[in-house]
Amino acid sequence: MLVTGGAGFIGANFVQHTVRHHPEYEVTVLDVLTYAGDRAALDPVARDITFVHGDICDADLVDRLVGSTDVVVHFAAESHVDNSLNDPFPFVRTNVIGTFTLLEAVRRHGARLHHISTDEVFGELPLDRPDRFTEDTPYHPSSPYSATKAGSDMLVRAWRRSYGVAATISNCANNYGPYQHVEKFLPRQITNVMTGARPQLYGTGVNVREWTHVDDHNAAVHAILARGRIGETYLIGSGVECTNLQLVRLVLELSGQPDDAYDLVPDRSGHDLRYANDTTKIRTELGWRPVHDDIRDGLAATIAWYRDNRDWWLPHKAATELNYRTVKS
Ligand code: NAD
Ligand code: DAU
Repeated sequence: MLVTGGAGFIGANFVQHTVRHHPEYEVTVLDVLTYAGDRAALDPVARDITFVHGDICDADLVDRLVGSTDVVVHFAAESHVDNSLNDPFPFVRTNVIGTFTLLEAVRRHGARLHHISTDEVFGELPLDRPDRFTEDTPYHPSSPYSATKAGSDMLVRAWRRSYGVAATISNCANNYGPYQHVEKFLPRQITNVMTGARPQLYGTGVNVREWTHVDDHNAAVHAILARGRIGETYLIGSGVECTNLQLVRLVLELSGQPDDAYDLVPDRSGHDLRYANDTTKIRTELGWRPVHDDIRDGLAATIAWYRDNRDWWLPHKAATELNYRTVKS
């Protein structure tokens, strides 16, 4: 199995999960180690995998690696919406050209591809209705990030239909758990509190996300690899919807701080109001269901992980906050 982006948040958790629970796979990780990639996230399984430091846009390297693999699981991406608003080009390059490069290699060598995507491709849902995205919802991306992920999904669909590549796609809701970069919402607020700063809430905090534990996401990916129908798309999510304000208050409460110890800051441009996935298809077809459906327990465990793994995130904290100050001013 070739795992692209395996030194990032979800990819590293996926590789650890695969080594522990799926010994039938021999895992090679391909990762260029951007600011978001960290080999230390693979330390617990370093002896069980092969790590290749390289770029998914490097056609020769990708061709060589795909040529000696059966299954490609494609996590590599530029993943942060705020960064995409500041500088969209790396998103076009990695998410679109990189996925294209991988697809061409997969087409040549006949490998199976699972493409990891996001619910953000569907755009936003209103706050005042209980609608959910389904596999048939038309694409309506808002940010440069989601537009490039939508583009990558479209490439995968076209390569499936025109060239018959053996591909599946999943679109997951927001993930949380260990090894998430401190730029993202929950780790940013958790580590702000741990470093004596206040959580930063965009707008008025009314935006809703569906919080899915990274282990549930990765178990769903394995269900798709084992039993998913080639050519199909599967939505993944927990059903756990929270406003950003509710989550900040929960982080503060679980950290022993007053629940109003946060700052309201200017809103994200084009900020999607709500995401929520209808997961009927993956539940009924593949028998997958999320195990981590209590956000209070999941968040408490995540806070404990960041408390116990300060060495992993602290070196990135100052640069991340400096980046936020530069971009927002
Ligand atoms: P991340 O930013 O934490 O990790 C991305 C990884 O990809 C990093 O290790 C980085 O070094 C690597 N990478 C970037 N460009 C590369 C390139 N050109 N060549 C090789 N490697 C490269 O991202 P994440 O949050 O783990 O997301 C992983 C995937 O899951 C992405 O495709 C993302 O769109 C998708 N996704 C994320 C979430 C979420 O909540 N984080 C939810 C749904 C889907
Ligand atoms: O829905 C899946 C997507 O979830 C993935 O495709 C993306 O890769 C991932 O980054 C995530 O995107 P979001 O934009 O939803 O996540 P982010 O962590 O950036 O922000 C979550 C919410 O919190 C969003 O409404 C913006 C808000 N926010 C974010 C930050 C960083 C704040 O209020 N304050 C903050 O400091």
